[in-house]
Amino acid sequence: MTTTATRTLSSTVEIPLLGFGTYLIPQAEAAAAVGEALKAGYRHIDTAEFYANEDGVGAGLRAANLERKSVFITTKLWPGNAAWGQTPKTTETTLAALDQSLAKLKLDYVDLYLIHAPFEKEQRLAQWRGLVELKKQGKTRSIGVSNFNINHLEELKAAGLPQPEANQIELHPWSQKPELVGYLEKHGIVPIAYSSLVPLSTWRTAPGHASGKTAQMKQDSEASPFKALAKKYGKTESQILLRWAVQKNWPVLPKSTRPERIRENADLFSFSLDAGDMAAIAKMDRGDGIAWGSQDPVKAK
Ligand SMILES: NC(=O)c1ccc[n+]([C@@H]2O[C@H](COP(=O)([O-])OP(=O)(O)OC[C@H]3O[C@@H](n4cnc5c(N)ncnc54)[C@H](OP(=O)(O)O)[C@@H]3O)[C@@H](O)[C@H]2O)c1
Repeated sequence: MTTTATRTLSSTVEIPLLGFGTYLIPQAEAAAAVGEALKAGYRHIDTAEFYANEDGVGAGLRAANLERKSVFITTKLWPGNAAWGQTPKTTETTLAALDQSLAKLKLDYVDLYLIHAPFEKEQRLAQWRGLVELKKQGKTRSIGVSNFNINHLEELKAAGLPQPEANQIELHPWSQKPELVGYLEKHGIVPIAYSSLVPLSTWRTAPGHASGKTAQMKQDSEASPFKALAKKYGKTESQILLRWAVQKNWPVLPKSTRPERIRENADLFSFSLDAGDMAAIAKMDRGDGIAWGSQDPVKAK
């Protein structure tokens, strides 16, 4: 089984299509989960300042004793959100934030640093200037954004700033964002898919793992068409959802704390969905994402 397929992010950086998500993995469990993922062949780990588990992620990475350059590590700047009573980060506090993340991860550099969401209109450009500087300093090999829509990306362009190399967005058959994804592909910005497993009935069912998934959506998950596809391909629903994305050449970030699921989610390159099934899935789009309890953050002003 190969788990090492990559997509080109820039002239010098390749991003593995299979990544391991760590949102909602508590600090105390992060090292073990990351250890399981690395053992299962994942070579791309996604964390964030906001997840409050960077120490654990770094510990899991060190315990695996792999060559640093063989693992792709992403972390994210929390931009601050005045609507939640937070102080928006400036260029200066952005520079300090990556230093803090690196100290927690105990790393000299990350492979990708992202602005987590386009919350702060007044500071968005200042934060992006910070990321451009951090790349120059070698503290991150590449830079990107997350939850940015076309208008937010155009804002960076209008300011004459370098374009992001990636945009991490909620992307699954129920939220396909065709216009945004078309824009990203056209401009050479790699879409990274998060919350690929939203249509599963087992998605975020643990206490406290909130989302905007409605009662109707939960009911739809029970009678999902992915069950039939899973049967047809002799795979699981999760593998079908993840395969759909990697077949589009989008990196995915499945999260689990269960070793058997971590291994299952890595088996994406031994089969492919046929053109008829890809076309059927293309018709399942329902619009905005629901992983954030509030609105899909691509809608931020
Ligand atoms: N940039 C952003 O704004 C943003 C937002 C959301 C997520 N993300 C990133 O994307 C990653 C993935 O998104 P996500 O955490 O929302 O959800 P996800 O990976 O799509 O799904 C995780 C959920 O599905 C369950 N699950 C995992 N594998 C399964 C399997 N094989 N069979 C059945 N159920 C399975 C997990 O439960 P168990 O853990 O109990 O297995 C968990 O409840 C995050 O961890 C994070 O790194 C980024």
